[in-house]
Amino acid sequence: MGETMTETSGLEAPSAEKVLKVALLGGGTVGSQVARILLEDADALAARAGARLVLTGIAVRNVDAPRDVELPRELYTTDAEKLVSGADLVIELMGGIEPARTHILAALKNGASVVTGNKALLAQDGAALFDAASANNADLNFEAAVAGAIPIIRPIRESLSGDRITRVLGIVNGTTNFILDAMDTTGAQFADVLAEAQRLGYAEADPTADVEGLDAAAKAAILASLAFHTRVSLEDVRCEGITKVTADDIAAAQDAGMTIKLLAIAELITAGDSADGTAAEGVSVRVHPTLLPRKHPLAAVHGAFNAVFVEADNAGSLMFYGAGAGGAPTASAIMGDVVSTARRIAAGAPGAPGAATRALPILGLDAVTTSYSIGLEVADQPGVLSRVAAVFAEHGVSIETMRQTVDGAPGLAAADRWSAGGRAELRFVTHPASEAALAATVADIKNLDVVESVTSVLRVEGV
Ligand code: NDP
Ligand code: HSE
Repeated sequence: MGETMTETSGLEAPSAEKVLKVALLGGGTVGSQVARILLEDADALAARAGARLVLTGIAVRNVDAPRDVELPRELYTTDAEKLVSGADLVIELMGGIEPARTHILAALKNGASVVTGNKALLAQDGAALFDAASANNADLNFEAAVAGAIPIIRPIRESLSGDRITRVLGIVNGTTNFILDAMDTTGAQFADVLAEAQRLGYAEADPTADVEGLDAAAKAAILASLAFHTRVSLEDVRCEGITKVTADDIAAAQDAGMTIKLLAIAELITAGDSADGTAAEGVSVRVHPTLLPRKHPLAAVHGAFNAVFVEADNAGSLMFYGAGAGGAPTASAIMGDVVSTARRIAAGAPGAPGAATRALPILGLDAVTTSYSIGLEVADQPGVLSRVAAVFAEHGVSIETMRQTVDGAPGLAAADRWSAGGRAELRFVTHPASEAALAATVADIKNLDVVESVTSVLRVEGV
């Protein structure tokens, strides 16, 4: 695949240069930056790839739309199908499921390789796409799909392929990290910070995919599949966003020397006894707001930055940090895939075979144990604490710490406060407990007549 261009320069012998036709699907935030780099850095890219990368067109919805990046108008087309049919390498940056999936499958069936940043499509339909790539001896690369500019796919897929990864913890959504970080810094409520993030362009007009954790869940599915050599799709990921995190939660976290981050967590869990051969591995993948000690490396990830923390048997702990989104940073990751794919095609080497996968079970609630922080508003009366503590004990959930803040009837002596309707806030941190035991504990605590409300239930990591 790929044509040859013959050039004569001065008295030098003619040099043959391979040419690869590159089709770009999408000319938006990322696509426009990819096109800019392909055109501006053409000579350097040709030297690194061992082939000249010729951009044959940019498929968009509207060829006449005003564009932020100045590119030759004749490159724009609405005929993505035709563009794909003549390409050696297709870069998909349209986003969404269709028509992106149809165009990627068509490219792979033609034997063309594909580079994409489309996490939503990979998390939903990755298996079919990887099968099509293998069947057609083509590559499907997707470094930009998780954490933008940060090299994390290739390190997990290649650099750590001789190790056993046991856990991946990631801040993989910049919008939610920006919001939680601003809440932590200013003490403001979620809704006010979201409005400010939208005004500054960090959050989209419809922020649902980010604030409900869906974007992070798609990335978690991709990371878990690669890390544990199995297939995890979006519906396997338990997902909770940040919309219920309050300024009080943040303040209580600060009091306890912690911060709140939206974490994507993928864990390889071994149950049973390896000595008697009953040990079995399974996978837990989840996204939720998480309390982290301020000294944890992920607590130092501020603003819209991303970071991924990987734990492996032999490598130990590794952290990857950088810009998780944005046109130019994401285009950098796309171009890394483009150059390495082009180098492979130019060398005439076969497409990289997909790594063998095993079908690890996705584990349910009881398989995972986590520490929890639970906030309660209670009547400030004698005996309340022991009644609440008894519920924890009934469900076998062990309390690690408890803090009480009295916030009602100021000025009264403690002994008189309860009769004056005083309130207290209790914050418990538990030892690791199963989610099922914790849910049952919280349900029973809610039913106690001395409990006004359960103000928050947050998982704790890194203690
Ligand atoms: P944009 O919405 O900015 O751009 C999408 C582009 O695709 C536009 O040029 C649009 O055309 C074109 N397009 C969409 N649908 C069609 C269609 N049916 N036919 C033809 N063209 C179409 O998206 P981004 O650049 O932000 O994102 C692209 C991909 O990269 C997504 O998968 C995203 O998840 C991923 N990504 C993005 C990051 C970011 O920071 N933005 C970070 C990491 C990954 P038109 O311009 O005419 O509307
Ligand atoms: N919306 C994502 C984020 C960027 O806020 O990180 C693309 O994945």
